[in-house]
Amino acid sequence: MDPKHNRKPFVGGNLKMNGSRAMLKEIIDRLNPLKFDDYVEVAIAPPSIFLDLAHRSVRKGVNVAAQNAFNCTKGAYTGEVSPEQLKDLGIDWVILGHSERREIFKESDELVASKVGHALKSNMKVIACIGEKLEERESEKTEEVVIRQLQAIAVKVDDWKNVVIAYEPVWAIGTGKVATPQQAQDVHLIIRDWLAKNISEKVAQDTRIIYGGSVKGTNSAELAKQFDVDGFLVGGASLTEDFIKIIECFIPSEN
Ligand code: PGA
Repeated sequence: MDPKHNRKPFVGGNLKMNGSRAMLKEIIDRLNPLKFDDYVEVAIAPPSIFLDLAHRSVRKGVNVAAQNAFNCTKGAYTGEVSPEQLKDLGIDWVILGHSERREIFKESDELVASKVGHALKSNMKVIACIGEKLEERESEKTEEVVIRQLQAIAVKVDDWKNVVIAYEPVWAIGTGKVATPQQAQDVHLIIRDWLAKNISEKVAQDTRIIYGGSVKGTNSAELAKQFDVDGFLVGGASLTEDFIKIIECFIPSEN
């Protein structure tokens, strides 16, 4: 548990469309020996073609996540994968609503929400991503955008225990321009307050809200100190040894 409160931190590694079997093996070989289980929950999300390999290669206690899943069980949806198929493979986690899905693949709030709803009904655990673009932040619409995206998702959630919310400002993703600890904390608090007012105080206290966007070994410790930052969704740095450093910032130093 994070000594700040009762939420167990969560760190996800989003490999995006990167890597090969050999690279995945390197990543998993670095991860498997690390003793983090008492302090932080960890998931790696490789491209879908490597999910089975990842699942078979990780030790117990290292989770594997898909980067996407469709909102139907089966059928004529060329190129898509369903939560049921992921479960069949033994995959329990899925990232949904990532800004690259929203932007490049034009996923609307409604589509993201329906995918979240279907994945949860299929007993998957969801990392639900929300976050504003640069122009939205600059025109002071951060709260409006983040809450609009969250609200759409919330309609489809009956039980929040299988949801991790990832706040990922789009301007910080893959840009090297990380949010300051205070910027992250401010939005995380807005999200938690919204959960308290609109869902319940318990859900607000129990739900992990993680930050994503240019998280590195050099900035993760400061971000992790923020009261409402419960971990990270890591892109670029999840491909390198830096991922271990990021996880280690949740492990007490005597270990
Ligand atoms: P980044 O990506 O760490 O490379 O900025 C984060 C993400 O997209 O989840």
